[in-house]
Amino acid sequence: GYKYDPKTSNKLEEIMSTVPKRKGFWCRSFQLEGILRARDHFKPQPNDVILSSTPKSGTTWLKALAFAITTRSRVNESTNPLLTRLAHDCVPFLEFKLHSSPQKLNLDVPLVATHIPYTSLPKSIINSGCKIVYICRDPKDAFGEEVLAWEDLPLEDAFEFFCEGFTAGGPYWDHLLGYWRRASLESPEKILFLKYEDLKKKTEYWIKKMAQFMGYPFSFEEEDKGVVQKIIDLCSFENLSNLEVNKSGKARLDVGVGVNTFEFENNTYFRKGKVGDWKNYLTPEMATRLDQITEQKLNGSALTL
Ligand code: A3P
Repeated sequence: GYKYDPKTSNKLEEIMSTVPKRKGFWCRSFQLEGILRARDHFKPQPNDVILSSTPKSGTTWLKALAFAITTRSRVNESTNPLLTRLAHDCVPFLEFKLHSSPQKLNLDVPLVATHIPYTSLPKSIINSGCKIVYICRDPKDAFGEEVLAWEDLPLEDAFEFFCEGFTAGGPYWDHLLGYWRRASLESPEKILFLKYEDLKKKTEYWIKKMAQFMGYPFSFEEEDKGVVQKIIDLCSFENLSNLEVNKSGKARLDVGVGVNTFEFENNTYFRKGKVGDWKNYLTPEMATRLDQITEQKLNGSALTL
């Protein structure tokens, strides 16, 4: 629970007063407390799988897929919680409380999600045997959605912030690279690195890969029975975005001690679900600039977006 913790709060003040102005990762001030709390208190279970991402990169989809994969033998198709709950109610975030349904999920799920950059994760996660599934996305599309979150800012200013790295979990590219370096170089067996675009294009392939990686591989019998396809269909943008709960439900984000609660519509998590929608937001110059930053930042990493 979110109990007042003087130790964390003191640390928060201390960090805020000394935080360097243009180095390291950024988070909104309301998120820092949750991150510190997680770093102080979170103890993963050995079988937990951590789902990580930058905001707007496909977190909701990843949560739904991981939930459907891990619970498939315990959950009845017609009463699957994903049909009546926002995916964020099925898989909690590590560093804040986001919920739309007042009722707790009556099912133990070995999944925890986070937007925390790799190097800032609780040591308990880094030192554990927990697996991590990371999803990233073309920054042009991730920014397209980011614009909505910054709706009180002119697009040009929001764009400038994004390029400079001033976004939650940003710089965007460093968030990706933090996970990518561990995934590609140090512990490929510990981190599965997914791209939203790949997941869209070859959904079946990547879902099988994900299930295998997470320790829930599909049996031949399940494949024959169409279980993989059922999960794809259940978690598809078309299906989830048309469910009553996701069309008209409301979510609450509780952050920090008492003060901050944000309310918003569940449908903010389901906009278009397309690759390349950035064309409707960005000028060609903006797109080129983002591509150039991507090329520069990823240069030498063997990661392509
Ligand atoms: P768009 O803004 O391009 O539509 P996050 O969950 O990390 O906030 O990411 C949100 C993005 O994922 C949005 O992209 C949203 O539409 C898309 N999305 C949500 N559910 C999805 C699903 N089931 N399949 C594919 N994309 C999905």
